[in-house]
Amino acid sequence: MRVAMIGTGYVGLVSGTCFAEFGINVTCIDKDERKINKLLNGEIPIFEPGLDVLVERQTSAGRLKFTTDLETGIAGAQAVFIAVGTPSRREDGHADLSYVYQAAKELAPLLKDYTVIVTKSTVPVGTAREVERIIKEENPDAQFDVASNPEFLREGAAIEDFMRPDRVVIGTDSPRAQDVMRQIYRPLYINETPIVMVAPETSELIKYASNAFLATKITFINEIANLCEKTGANVQQVSKAMGLDGRIGGKFLHAGPGYGGSCFPKDTLALAQIGVKHNAPQTIVEQVITANKNRQEDMAKRIIAAFDGDVKGKTIGILGISFKPNTDDVRDAPSLVVVPMLQQAGANIKAYDPEAREQAEKHFQNVDWKDNAYDVADNADALVILTEWNEFRALSLREIKEKMTQPLLLDFRNIYTEAEIREKGFRYISIGRQEINADSAAALKAAV
Ligand code: UGA
Repeated sequence: MRVAMIGTGYVGLVSGTCFAEFGINVTCIDKDERKINKLLNGEIPIFEPGLDVLVERQTSAGRLKFTTDLETGIAGAQAVFIAVGTPSRREDGHADLSYVYQAAKELAPLLKDYTVIVTKSTVPVGTAREVERIIKEENPDAQFDVASNPEFLREGAAIEDFMRPDRVVIGTDSPRAQDVMRQIYRPLYINETPIVMVAPETSELIKYASNAFLATKITFINEIANLCEKTGANVQQVSKAMGLDGRIGGKFLHAGPGYGGSCFPKDTLALAQIGVKHNAPQTIVEQVITANKNRQEDMAKRIIAAFDGDVKGKTIGILGISFKPNTDDVRDAPSLVVVPMLQQAGANIKAYDPEAREQAEKHFQNVDWKDNAYDVADNADALVILTEWNEFRALSLREIKEKMTQPLLLDFRNIYTEAEIREKGFRYISIGRQEINADSAAALKAAV
């Protein structure tokens, strides 16, 4: 079995490498010569735990190849995956499909034997049919079918998600294409992974509906967290108990500073646009988009409020810049909203992220970058946890407190427990739990 992967971005590179792990011969193709040269030299252009080891193993085994040349790249492939970018169009939030259509146009004249063209990028309903139309128009003699095969990878856990998915979704009407796709996913099929065979439109919508639902779940619990803060309830206990109901499930119910990343913000926006276009408005998703935007801004406002509305000249330390742990991705991260708002209000920012500094430097100015959390805490008037990197979970709070001008900790990922904080005497502002201040903590400690 031989497949080609057009696009060596996140989805393309992870999927191509994992297909090679299945024993398939894979050629990854990208127009970006620098990227391909890097890969040929064994360098991985993205940060994804475990990916480097697999790429090295599969390239050494000769199963994984990289090229900039489309013709040699797709030669002999039974399936050609299109995994190019689909950014949000700046003007209207629609997914920009020009790269997908361009790839279809360019590969059409090169098709020889029967080939399945697979759209792997997240694309609006109707894209697979349009790809089919383009290829037919460019090459009326081509023998091919089109299938939609959306990816459900989480950054930071992508290899595990690929190798042990909850389901594989394949959208095509053609039995011949279904057979090819079944062959490709044979190792998972043997493991009894559910393979969902549907029409292309259904497959395309499954991806958007899944991401939008998860974004809704997060936004729901974030608003419940606001209510918890006002009523004295504890959001972690609320979500834990809710999650015990099998119909709800406990995952994606962690309240925080709002969702970010390259998928949820883009896909919710695109789904809302698709709804408008087809006159089936997705009003819940529209509200989720607004609520999440407000939430990220609200995080900055909370920090400012902790200083009674005036952060001028204050030094605020930020721990975690990436949109979530185990990635260097800062796209639509809460930090991109919070840091500039604090700077605009006159605060000085110190920051540390285990991986994201290089990416973040493109977005921020005048940030004093540090190499660890303790240097960020040094002389800071407040410390804010924006991303729950593991190394922030085990900080010596005693040492942190000694270094700061005042012990003010804003934990927007709830990685510390109230008991730990009471013990250490911080003023502690978290999400969906009531504020603990040093006086009340000391009084409580004395009373115990
Ligand atoms: C998401 C989906 O989880 C994947 O299934 C999907 O394939 C991918 O988008 C995609 O469309 O390609 P990803 O963007 O990597 O994956 O990140 P998630 O782990 O889903 O987290 C998204 C955001 O939600 C992060 O900012 C995270 O901090 C936030 N989040 C997540 C919460 O605030 N609370 C939670 O309980 C879970």
